[in-house]
Amino acid sequence: MVSFSKIALLAVAAQAAIIPTDSPAGLRIRQAGGSQGTVTWDKYSFYVNGERVMIYSGEVHPFRNPVQDLHLDVLQKVKALGFNTVSIYVHWGIVEYERGKFNWDGVFDLQPFFDAAKAAGLWVIARPGPYINGESAGGGLPGWGSRVEGQWRNSNANYTAAWQPYINSVGKIIAKNQITNGGPIIIAQPENEYSGFMNPDGSLNPDEDKEYERLLLEAFDGAGITIPTVCNDAWIGGHFTSVDVYGYDNYPAGFDCANPITSWPDPPEWFYGGQRGVAPNTPNSIVEFQGGGFDSWGGYGFEQCYKDLGPEMVRVYNKNVYASATHLLNVYMIYGGTNWGHLSNPGGYSSYDYGAAIAEDRTLREKYYELKLQANFLMVSPAYLTSAPGEVQKFPTSGSNITITELWDEVGQKQRFYIIRQTKPQEFINSAFKVTINTSVGQLTVPQLGNAAYVLPSQDSKILVTDYPAGPVNILYSTLEIMTWKVIDGRTVILLYANTGESGEISILTSTSRKVDVRRGKSSTVTFKQTSSTLTLQVVVDHETVIALGDDILLYVVDRVNAYNFWVPDVNLKQDIPVIIKGGYLLRTTKFSGNTLALTGDTNGTTVFEVIAPKSAQAYTWNGQRLDTDLTRYGTQEGRYRTKTPRVDIPDLGRVKWKYINSLPEVSASYDDSKWVTADHTYTWNKIKPTTPVILYASDYGFHSGNILWRGHFTATGGENLFNLTIQGGNAFAYSVWDNDKYLGSFTGAPAPSAHNGSYTLTPWAKGSNHVLTILQDHMGLEQNWFGGEENFKSFRGLSDYSFGGATPTLKMWKLTGNLGGEKFADWARGGYNEGGLYAVRKGYHLPGFDDSKWVSKSPLKGLTGPGVDFYRATFTLNIPDGVDYPMAIDFGARTGNSYRVEIYVNGWQFGKYVDDIGPQTSFPVPQGILNYKGENTIALSLWSLEDSGAALESIDLVIRKQIEGGISVTNSPAPNYMERANSY
Ligand code: GAL
Repeated sequence: MVSFSKIALLAVAAQAAIIPTDSPAGLRIRQAGGSQGTVTWDKYSFYVNGERVMIYSGEVHPFRNPVQDLHLDVLQKVKALGFNTVSIYVHWGIVEYERGKFNWDGVFDLQPFFDAAKAAGLWVIARPGPYINGESAGGGLPGWGSRVEGQWRNSNANYTAAWQPYINSVGKIIAKNQITNGGPIIIAQPENEYSGFMNPDGSLNPDEDKEYERLLLEAFDGAGITIPTVCNDAWIGGHFTSVDVYGYDNYPAGFDCANPITSWPDPPEWFYGGQRGVAPNTPNSIVEFQGGGFDSWGGYGFEQCYKDLGPEMVRVYNKNVYASATHLLNVYMIYGGTNWGHLSNPGGYSSYDYGAAIAEDRTLREKYYELKLQANFLMVSPAYLTSAPGEVQKFPTSGSNITITELWDEVGQKQRFYIIRQTKPQEFINSAFKVTINTSVGQLTVPQLGNAAYVLPSQDSKILVTDYPAGPVNILYSTLEIMTWKVIDGRTVILLYANTGESGEISILTSTSRKVDVRRGKSSTVTFKQTSSTLTLQVVVDHETVIALGDDILLYVVDRVNAYNFWVPDVNLKQDIPVIIKGGYLLRTTKFSGNTLALTGDTNGTTVFEVIAPKSAQAYTWNGQRLDTDLTRYGTQEGRYRTKTPRVDIPDLGRVKWKYINSLPEVSASYDDSKWVTADHTYTWNKIKPTTPVILYASDYGFHSGNILWRGHFTATGGENLFNLTIQGGNAFAYSVWDNDKYLGSFTGAPAPSAHNGSYTLTPWAKGSNHVLTILQDHMGLEQNWFGGEENFKSFRGLSDYSFGGATPTLKMWKLTGNLGGEKFADWARGGYNEGGLYAVRKGYHLPGFDDSKWVSKSPLKGLTGPGVDFYRATFTLNIPDGVDYPMAIDFGARTGNSYRVEIYVNGWQFGKYVDDIGPQTSFPVPQGILNYKGENTIALSLWSLEDSGAALESIDLVIRKQIEGGISVTNSPAPNYMERANSY
């Protein structure tokens, strides 16, 4: 999450970045000429294995998806976009939950992810931190760090000793999987956004800690990482330039879900100048570029955010950064995933959907298809990689408010790309105008034929090319956008698109007279003009028009929505067999062997396939079944496929047999907390020193996530009638307080407050009587630590102050608990963050296999009649056939506004935290692999009522979000059963 202070800093920095500084010094070239094994670079782009490449990447966080098999699903979807890379963060706090003990096992093993990336044909950018941000718990920093004195994210020796073992451990895994060792990793990034710095007193420090940077690079080297390193500066501020290739990030659309589109800022134009000012000898690299947005407690929900951050955002802002000749572009996030098991920072909730192109339930949004059009174009346009922006034209007064940047290929000295966009994309203006372009035959004003205009709707941008070679075909210019082109058996197939009803023009340099033969679509939509050197066609874009220009050129002119159906597979992952497939929802893989082209993918309705492939492909299969096709009038093959999505029965969770126990035994008179941790520290490493007689900060005792319980034992002086406290839990936290078994009250929480000063009236205590004050508090995750040198992630969870009114009792002791075992957590398979401190969870009753037959029958729809915590369990079976992908979610229906909180455990995995009165999330996707699609499942719920009137769920349903044929086969994540927990309490 971007903290407020960061935003303020960004505003100042944005000003600074407009004026490029000329300080190219400091770039560490590890080997002469930037050579780095098989990954090198020059001032334009990276090269992999000697080939100049555009790095088009999408960010995915393996830790937000605990089903190893599903990585391949997501990565195949990323590959099918036309992207060639994924970027990942690694979350230190998860894998070293206990200091010195690394958990790279099971779902935390990175190897299956790297293997899946390789299998999908993607390179990887590895970004292990130590600090990552990413709206994650502690921003990646481990909870035990709360007990490490002093500043973090600088060269403080205590901090250095803390991170070095981690970087050494993760670094070796990265090194093993780097491209020079046959793995997919091509680039590594130490730290993240090392751009803002703080002094111990909280004042801003203008200087980065270069010693810290040096230590990090030394540690990367020491672990054997030899691929190039990049940084991710939060703006073009020239920080951490000692990496090999300077990079930065940008989130140009902002994060205003309340005001979709109208809140968009004008697209920035200073990236290229800014980047050249800092690092003129390396490619313009945007290591994170907005692919969606985060949302916070009490927020709008990702469907609403998507209205702001959908396909229009990609058309406006992605195309804008192409105008800055961006040659490494990583879309953050391409797939967000889930903050399962308390992995969020307090600024977010269970879903990390992010409004990304691939939704949390792994279904594809329209934005996905828009990105696919753009990425495919760049991948067949090598001159883009050596182009630089030249003239910027603006037409602010001619009735249109248009910005046009001309990119000129400095190396090839022939091609130009015109990036044409709305200067004010937040306004709703449809523009129609003429464009003046430079070509090899001189300046032209286009469109040329008739009275046609170049059309640019609001929230749109277009790329116009000149002198563009599509294989042997020289396109003089095209106002239609190119999605791809391929030379197949000597014929060049060019796929062009625009919005329905727009007219577009393509002019080809050709000295031979060519017959314009409309083989599909209406010939009335096509006009043309042939001269001795050019053939210019104008097409009014309708669903699909296919035009042959002699035997060797075939043009597809399609509308945008139809263009979405086309895929450019990387056949056999070798990129040497030219194929274009019109297909359905998703084309995953294409293999060519013998004479058969074997396609795999997903469909969600009747799908028309068209195979545009060499004639040597004579048979076609779809997911292993023969695809019957007919020859089209232009030599391609067309077939139809009817999707089969069988009906399945899924249980009605409102009606399954629910069992229940009380999960707050702590407030009964006989409760024994002798096994709890005694809060007996009198020193805290925290900068905020409390007034309490003993330290009451949970992390100081090793509890970093989930619910925390406090029990203060007192002997009354007599007359105590008020209990006051200052307690902190993170945004949207809540707590309830009991005096022995008497409920005193709750703070039910609100989106913003992360702390609360409470005052609770006591029934006056009798002299000498014993009282236990029990406090159940929510822990919303550790804070992030955005500034280098700050200690914000240590923000305490617990009490910094308490006092009594009437009289002051004698403190006997304070006890606390969080998850069983704290840092020595009980469940290695599901990790340290998964469990919270509620009684039933400490006991392991959330796990499958526990015998609840002796529990009472009660449904969460009945709930509690007063404050307290119920714990429910139910089992159900699923039997979903193979060959389909039916993503499911647990839905709670509409919010009621009552104060209650639910944590959902599915087969022991915490997959959702529902806060009815704060929201916004009401639907919780649970992936296959966590849900057992073929057999028994256990669902467990904690229901914490913070109201005198009690609480019950309005409804609970397991829903199928979408029915898709295809998918991949999924092995369930390990879900160890309940075993009696010795020493649990
Ligand atoms: C960036 C940061 C990411 C993430 C993003 C917002 O500034 O590098 O980690 O927090 O903002 O989603």
